Amino acid sequence: MGFQRFSTCFLLALCILSQSLAKGTLGFACNWGTITSHPLPAQIMVKLMRDNGINKVKLFEADPMALKALGNSGIQVMVGIPNDLLDSLATNVNAAIAWVDQNVSAFISKNGVDIRYVAVGNEAFLKTYNGRFVQSTFPAIKNIQAALIKAGLGRQVKVTTPLNADVYQSDTGLPSGGHFRPDIQNQMMSIIKFLSQSNGPLTFNIYPFLSLDADPNFPKEFAFFDGSAAPVVDGSITYTNVFDANFDTLISALEKNGFGSMNVIIGEVGWPTDGTSNANIKSAQRFNQGLVDRIVKKQGTPKRPTPPEIYMFALLDEDLKSIDPGPFERHWGIFNFDGSMKYPLNLGGGKSLVGAKGVKYLAKQWCVISTQANVMDPNFAQSMSKACTYADCTSLAPGSSCSGLDTKGNASYAFNMYYQRLDQRKDACQFNGLSVVTNIDPSPSQGSCHFEIMIDIGKHETKSTSFAAPKIGLAYKFMLVSSFSFTLSLFI
Ligand SMILES: *[C@@H]1O[C@H](CO)[C@@H](O)[C@H](O)[C@H]1NC(C)=O
Ligand SMILES: *[C@@H]1O[C@H](CO)[C@@H](O)[C@H](O)[C@H]1NC(C)=O
Repeated sequence: MGFQRFSTCFLLALCILSQSLAKGTLGFACNWGTITSHPLPAQIMVKLMRDNGINKVKLFEADPMALKALGNSGIQVMVGIPNDLLDSLATNVNAAIAWVDQNVSAFISKNGVDIRYVAVGNEAFLKTYNGRFVQSTFPAIKNIQAALIKAGLGRQVKVTTPLNADVYQSDTGLPSGGHFRPDIQNQMMSIIKFLSQSNGPLTFNIYPFLSLDADPNFPKEFAFFDGSAAPVVDGSITYTNVFDANFDTLISALEKNGFGSMNVIIGEVGWPTDGTSNANIKSAQRFNQGLVDRIVKKQGTPKRPTPPEIYMFALLDEDLKSIDPGPFERHWGIFNFDGSMKYPLNLGGGKSLVGAKGVKYLAKQWCVISTQANVMDPNFAQSMSKACTYADCTSLAPGSSCSGLDTKGNASYAFNMYYQRLDQRKDACQFNGLSVVTNIDPSPSQGSCHFEIMIDIGKHETKSTSFAAPKIGLAYKFMLVSSFSFTLSLFI
């Protein structure tokens, strides 16, 4: 009896174990950004994550729709605080208490959301911000931590602050030379000491794509995990890719300051698929497959063999993001804006990436240039510019998926994006008589240029919605420009 009981138990345990492995519970982590004109319903997003073994998600702010849908989902959540709240949270502990009450405690107790981290600010020390948030970040972290303790959540929810990789650099051009940027060294030390005492991790965003995009002399193969680039030799260590080199530069900086074993999370890493020539499906698939393989194998870097928690950037494309960093900024999604597949990925354990299910679309119709239209028409350029001011035309940029279209094809693409952006409203396909609605798919049969149909978010029936210019998330990912000053130095 005893033995039988034991063996049943044992078998059951094995069964549960293998089932959870088969379900992909070994687990991926992803960013869920919401700077988009047509958000996918939050329940569909949560299903998409679960179907793909994503059990950790990072939000850039406490979006109530997203948080409610994440309740009792088995997905752990990192909730972000936007930079524009840092000043008030830094100077007023009551603001921090109110933030935690409304945006953490309530969602845990009322909605069953498994919140594990609060990310205070986003890349607040980015050089392009010119020090704007340098003074407020640390006090805001302290006040949020105090508020979490007051709410009885001090053990369950940890604070962190996602930083851009431009907070560290290497004067020797090698990872072993890593140190923190002198202008923020003191702030970094205060934050690191505080987080290590409160068991909060450090979070850094690392972007090999941006290293490549910023420097025409960057050895392209070094951006990938399976690349054939000449390795970089640093003492006894040989680096074969920029991700490892970048991460270990950080570890060197931590070691120099006595925090070599500090817990580190990668808050963002990914590869865009459109907007410039290195941003394409093939490279994104290659990079992200390499990344997924490392996560599955639990592979770390030469200096830190235990792998960090890695939040991939991002789940979906976001059509309202600022394109200050470049037209690729709206195309970081592993999936398209509607949750459909861009490219397959092998997730390990016999699982493959799957797209979103149950998405509702508008009618199969497009707005295109009419056959009679003349490109010399005085209204032509103005119509095109009107369309592209409001809608997303980044796929027309040089090197992008639709850059091969002729002038009329360009106009059709722009008119259609505007028409779809306005939920196929009748008056959205009226470009001074130059346009017409068609139900024949205008996408070219060759290549990856795709004329999209918008998802149905229940807006197409309201006849008189006025239309305002898109709200652009400037503060969101201004970043980039300077994020790899150090990686450049690796190759100078
Ligand atoms: C909760 O978070 C939202 C989204 O960032 C923000 O608008 C709101 O002000 C926050 N609540 C408090 C009390 O700070
Ligand atoms: C199409 O539009 C893009 C973006 O506005 C522009 O760069 C390109 O030159 C245009 N191509 C033609 C053939 O007009």
